[in-house]
Amino acid sequence: MEIKVSPSLLSCDYLHLANEVERAFTCGADMLHFDVMDGVFVNNISFGIPILQAVKKVSKLPLDVHLMICRPRDYIERFVQSGADIITFHLETGCNIEETIALIKNCGAKAGIAIKPHTPAKDVQKYIGLVDMILVMTVEPGFGGQAFMPQCLDKIRQLRSMADSMGVPPDIQVDGGINAETAKLTVDAGANVIVSGSYLFSADDMADKIAMIKALQG
Ligand code: DX5
Ligand code: ZN
Repeated sequence: MEIKVSPSLLSCDYLHLANEVERAFTCGADMLHFDVMDGVFVNNISFGIPILQAVKKVSKLPLDVHLMICRPRDYIERFVQSGADIITFHLETGCNIEETIALIKNCGAKAGIAIKPHTPAKDVQKYIGLVDMILVMTVEPGFGGQAFMPQCLDKIRQLRSMADSMGVPPDIQVDGGINAETAKLTVDAGANVIVSGSYLFSADDMADKIAMIKALQG
């Protein structure tokens, strides 16, 4: 499977946002990861619709929006209108999952569903055939720069084998604590879309780091 890299803007230099968006593109990223936090679903607040609109104006890459917010349904139309190409929301929000997936698709975006480290694969199993992407969080959502949780690897394996046995090929995305070493572990387990924030944006050689991740074989 082709490995795609989605640098997380949460770790970029916000004073030079346009340059950072351009840097990710010229360094070979496949999409840009945009983390929205509301201070309720997670204990942090990041950025939202006006910043997404600004990024959309300069980005040549698809925008991969990760909603860490309560009531995602209430905001989906506005996020799509503001430039989201993929919208991923959390299973743990307790929203109506089928309706939320349908709304994202009806608005014209790809739909993803995310699970936190302690949510088991079986909880998301029945939605595998409905989504374009499953996001397996490999840290507790809320902050960049945390350590990768290796106990999530089994879940990636389980989800990949569930998807294979159903004959559906969703993307499996991983997010949290990803560097070249942990990316390899997740790709070996079945992930094919790699989010990385602090590791990529703190690097002088982002292009080399992206190329290393993209060269991994699943
Ligand atoms: C965390 C976010 C991540 C974050 C990852 O809740 O969902 O996308 O930016 O940051 P790193 O790669 O630094 O762990
Ligand atoms: Zn994220």
